[in-house]
Amino acid sequence: MCGIVGFVGKSKQAKDVLLEGLTRLEYRGYDSAGIAVSDGDRINVVRRLGKVRRLVESIGETDCLGTCGIGHTRWATHGAPSERNAHPHMSCADEIAVVHNGIIENFAELREELEGKGHVFSSDTDTEVAAHLVEEAYDGDLLTAVRYATSRMIGAYGLAVMCKEEPGRIVVTRKDSPIVLGVGEEGSYLGSDIVALIDATRDVVILEDEQYAVMTADGIDYFDREGAPIEPEITHIDWTLDAAEKGGYPDFMLKEIHEQPRVVRDTLAGRFSGTEITIDELSLTRTELNFIDRVYIIACGTSYHAGLIAKDLIEGWARIPTEVEVASEFRYRNPIITPTTLVVAVSQSGETADTLAAIRDARIKGAKVFGITNVIGSRVARESDGVIYTKANKEISVASTKSFTGQVVSLTLLAMLLARSRGKFNQNQTRILFSELADCADAIEQVLQDTEQIKDAASVFEGRESAFFIGRGMGAATCYEGALKLKEISYVHAEAYAAGEMKHGPIALIDEGFPVVAVATQSPIYDKVVSNLKESESRGASIVAVATEGDTSICDVADKVIYIPKVRDAFMPIVASVPLQLLAREVAVARGCDVDQPRNLAKSVTVE
Ligand code: G6P
Repeated sequence: MCGIVGFVGKSKQAKDVLLEGLTRLEYRGYDSAGIAVSDGDRINVVRRLGKVRRLVESIGETDCLGTCGIGHTRWATHGAPSERNAHPHMSCADEIAVVHNGIIENFAELREELEGKGHVFSSDTDTEVAAHLVEEAYDGDLLTAVRYATSRMIGAYGLAVMCKEEPGRIVVTRKDSPIVLGVGEEGSYLGSDIVALIDATRDVVILEDEQYAVMTADGIDYFDREGAPIEPEITHIDWTLDAAEKGGYPDFMLKEIHEQPRVVRDTLAGRFSGTEITIDELSLTRTELNFIDRVYIIACGTSYHAGLIAKDLIEGWARIPTEVEVASEFRYRNPIITPTTLVVAVSQSGETADTLAAIRDARIKGAKVFGITNVIGSRVARESDGVIYTKANKEISVASTKSFTGQVVSLTLLAMLLARSRGKFNQNQTRILFSELADCADAIEQVLQDTEQIKDAASVFEGRESAFFIGRGMGAATCYEGALKLKEISYVHAEAYAAGEMKHGPIALIDEGFPVVAVATQSPIYDKVVSNLKESESRGASIVAVATEGDTSICDVADKVIYIPKVRDAFMPIVASVPLQLLAREVAVARGCDVDQPRNLAKSVTVE
């Protein structure tokens, strides 16, 4: 949700660093992009509507020269996507340049006040008030002026500010929006995400809320909200830039789908002692674990679907009532939370605003909060009582794939731990389950080797604008994610239903050739799923079934079959989700869609 970058060096051109950083951050938004570079005398700004590529193409060799600059890639909130609303935003006298990620909630009052003082605005954004506030307060020290501006702003912000009068200096601050800083050989770097600076340094500072950083070519100084100097905590990053490159695949999504066997293995590494599931990060004693009498899983989007899968496991194995809630609803609903409630917050990015707000509410109400996230040092990680990292590594494609698998595997471990702590499994059962869970990595590998059946199945979608995904039990939860993938990247309207519900309304939409994707793997309710499929087939649906290898009878009802290896029903979603991801991608590619950067979406949503 908007990406910001900044660089101050001695000799390296800032624009090169900024454009490279923005390209890496583009997953955060791609409505428009821009940079501001100081040449010592003035701040030169270039902004373009559309993707970063358009900005790159429009900056010539001799444009925007200078070694200090800031940049932005936007996901529009206030103000339509347009060049005039693109960042950086400037003050009236073009002396202050600002890039911002977040929302300034009181921008309308501030704008009115500033206009009353004679400031002239040139965009419809909330961000522009920050530039004018800094201009209003500037009296020779940019840090002081930025501190004044933020003291007037309500909302969320990751902010980087430059001033014509102080070339070679960038002031940075944040509240509820991520900012990472680091010093490399060529200068000082800033980004909304580590990928923007990982080329330059592996030792980074994750700025805390209401802290300030002043970047110069010689290094970065840090200050608290009162302006007193502070010593920052350094975080060392041990993953490599490979994660931010396509590695021979045509798009990040396909690359990330293929990483899933590795994600399963890495997420499970060190989680079984030989007798017990170990999640030390949960930081709950066995007695505390046993007192848990309710679990809430809160999340958004794909992470919510991972939660739906986990509900069946926690209730089925540990017998603890489990609710799965969309975070944006949970926080306004006054849910029943007591000190014996375990709240599990699932978020790939660890910065989704609704999920964070729900965590805060739950903690105030006395719940223990356990975070499951993919991003080290993210807010979900910091604000939870314990955290498990999904080991997916950087996920670039906006549509989540490998991080979903990491989440489902992590939640499965949690369900096993809860069941074991309540004596529902003995050691031998735990060992067998863990071993079968680990085998899912091989099963996914097998799915990835035979993609012809998926390509063939995608033909069912030719010329179609709508589809159903149906399944029962864990198959239904798997279908919710399958339908979301298709919607997100191919713009085909897709709805997922528990298969038994089809006859209560949705079946009215079925006509000749209507695509119905079914998860029809071997399970105790397989026959019921097949009966539901027959209801659709007899009304003309074109059925694509994800089925267990060796199941030939499914061909009687399905037009196309995608076989997956046999795994325990509890682990089926981990494997069956993979062909659904590939199917969505196949349909999207056939329709000429940009699978990595679907329209209107952003990978992390830091506004409510
Ligand atoms: C955005 C992304 C989705 C993601 C959701 C939740 O909408 O486009 O892919 O599932 O946010 O994100 P989180 O980082 O909290 O898992």
